Amino acid sequence: MTVNDDAPTPTPSGLFIAFEGGDGVGKSTQVALLADQLREHGRDVIVTREPGDSRIGPQVRQMLLDGDELDARAEALLFAADRADHVVSVIGPALRRGAVVITDRYVDSSIAYQGVGRGLGTTEVAALSEFATRGLNPDLTIVLDLSAAERRRRMGNLERFDRIERAPEQMHDDVRRTFLDLAAAHPERYLVVDAARPPDVVAAEIAAAVEKVNT
Ligand code: TYD
Repeated sequence: MTVNDDAPTPTPSGLFIAFEGGDGVGKSTQVALLADQLREHGRDVIVTREPGDSRIGPQVRQMLLDGDELDARAEALLFAADRADHVVSVIGPALRRGAVVITDRYVDSSIAYQGVGRGLGTTEVAALSEFATRGLNPDLTIVLDLSAAERRRRMGNLERFDRIERAPEQMHDDVRRTFLDLAAAHPERYLVVDAARPPDVVAAEIAAAVEKVNT
């Protein structure tokens, strides 16, 4: 397979939005609601996700989520490989044509899950992602925040867990804290939303924040 390693950093004219948060916080619902809302306003919207929507996504996703054991560095590199191809083949082209790109997870998931959760270090994993994305950062990152107790309650309804969802509870606490720390470090590029509230209330808060960066 030929992957274009020499592609320049995209020079986007569209709007790039990332959703982040722990497992079971309701990201997919909010991603869909925001996409619908923007489309109603006539925007060209691409919804995409990591891991999975790159050209190598399905295979990478299977390796990452279906197995039993995987070395933490191998895990980080697989997420980074998926992300590199995602930027070149999906996100970059859509931004260049002026679309709104909404991604369900991006760099911060790697910093939180691999950097802190798996103990690889936030600096190391951020550098790996910087290499993978060629420095492309979202205009706005929306962190859906949920307490550990509420997360457990919601996850209890899921029939099966993937390899990462089965990780120890401490890892999920670390992941949550990391998203909040990343948001606190760059408040102008983040919105932290209390995801315990009804979906329509959460969606309205997100829509208002997107409207601000969109104008
Ligand atoms: P997925 O089934 O897509 O769940 P979710 O709806 O919560 O996004 O699984 C993605 C899993 O991969 C999730 O547990 C978070 C994890 N992940 C990482 O550990 N690092 C990453 O860089 C990304 C993008 C995801």
